[in-house]
Amino acid sequence: MPNRYAVILAAGQGTRMKSKLYKVLHPVCGKPMVQHVVDHISKLNIQEIVTIIGHGAEMVQAQLGDKSLYALQNEQLGTAHAVMQAQKMLEGKDGITIVVCGDTPLIKAETMEALFKHHENLSAKATILTATIDNPTGYGRIIRSAEGLVEKIVEHKDASEAERKINEINTGTYCFDNQALFEALKRVSNDNVQGEYYLPDVIEILKKQGEVVTAYQTDEFEETLGVNDRVALAEAERIMRLRINEAHMRNGVTIIDPANTYIEADVEIGQDTVIYPGTMIKGQTTIGTECVIGPNSEIDTCEVGNETVIRQSAAFNSSIGSHVNIGPFAHIRPDSTILDDVKIGNFVEIKKAVFGKGSKASHLSYIGDAEVGSDVNIGCGSITVNYDGKNKYLTKIEDGVFIGCNSNLVAPVTIKKGSYVAAGSTITKNVPEDALAIARAKQMNKEGYVQKLNLKK
Ligand code: UD1
Ligand code: CA
Repeated sequence: MPNRYAVILAAGQGTRMKSKLYKVLHPVCGKPMVQHVVDHISKLNIQEIVTIIGHGAEMVQAQLGDKSLYALQNEQLGTAHAVMQAQKMLEGKDGITIVVCGDTPLIKAETMEALFKHHENLSAKATILTATIDNPTGYGRIIRSAEGLVEKIVEHKDASEAERKINEINTGTYCFDNQALFEALKRVSNDNVQGEYYLPDVIEILKKQGEVVTAYQTDEFEETLGVNDRVALAEAERIMRLRINEAHMRNGVTIIDPANTYIEADVEIGQDTVIYPGTMIKGQTTIGTECVIGPNSEIDTCEVGNETVIRQSAAFNSSIGSHVNIGPFAHIRPDSTILDDVKIGNFVEIKKAVFGKGSKASHLSYIGDAEVGSDVNIGCGSITVNYDGKNKYLTKIEDGVFIGCNSNLVAPVTIKKGSYVAAGSTITKNVPEDALAIARAKQMNKEGYVQKLNLKK
């Protein structure tokens, strides 16, 4: 197999996005566009990946890390000028170079592989990945001769009325013979409407030299979407979302309504888990088998075990065990560890807490900065009083403790093993093992008092 190199174009500002964030860093299904591109390319056996950076260079580099080499394009003079910046790194090397735009996150690795194969089989010097689309506005058009051979690419802005009627477009992905590419780049001019050095002009240059120039047409036109504005961004998101959901369904996950289920690119979900509509699963989340998630749950960067139910609830940066039942309307805030067989019921908030095996907080509680042992029952309305306005303190609730309803546990405080806290207590001192703590005003009944005060007619 010939050597393979890749150049990713990611130096543009992305003016049409109207954004502070550089275009290629806009996320699609939670992952920056350029990261999608690099992830796809990384599957292809490439010797060297060079990303051309300019606008937001440090941020793009920080995002991609050592998955790529970098070449800086100080001034954005066009896509041909961008590729030229990789000259020092690639010129003179034998092999095939794929060029991909950082704003086409949907092109699949298989399609790029097919492009390489087509290029190799025809011993071409250049092969364009093309697609036929209904609305080609904005894209470069493929100009073919009467015999159907590729002649050149004309940019939308430079195209004549007749050329604009052509529906076959340049997707912005190409394979080139590496040496022929860098030779031809030296001859590209900026004599066009935009005054830019166009990479597509390399096609005409090579063609005029009598080299073999071909096109590989993908019929999956959805893959080829170039994201230049927020409308296209939403479209890319929609296509990627359905693609991700389809992969999960093929893996044995039931998704009741894929059009209304938002799963980011790096999420893993086990077999026979059922996802109900309105659910967002984000970041590096893994969910086990036979779980029920949603409707309307948001889970971000969590590890969830098997057979766990998370209904109409939110969970962030936490670990949640197996056979756990959460919600409806619970909030698991970051740094929480919920062990197996736990129940977190409606209107319960957990923050930075360990919740031991088999423990329950079934209704209306706040448990923050706490270590809760196993088989603890936290009664309705009970809370940890963890904050004095300045500092946060820890509450420890040991195994088998029973906290009566509407108790305040004023931290720092420890409720020792097996003890009981009477309902309505405000606990400010540690409770010893197996004790009953009552910390509330005694009830007083004043007989006949209502008549005495003449309160009743
Ligand atoms: C480009 C193609 C067009 C094709 C379309 C496919 C050119 C001249 N036109 O148009 O034929 O149909 O992609 O989506 O190539 N970039 C740089 N440096 C620059 C200019 C651009 O790195 O100096 C990068 C951008 O960050 C972007 C990519 O190259 O990721 C493409 O540039 P963009 O301005 O989006 O080109 P299009 O107008 O979409
Ligand atoms: Ca583009």
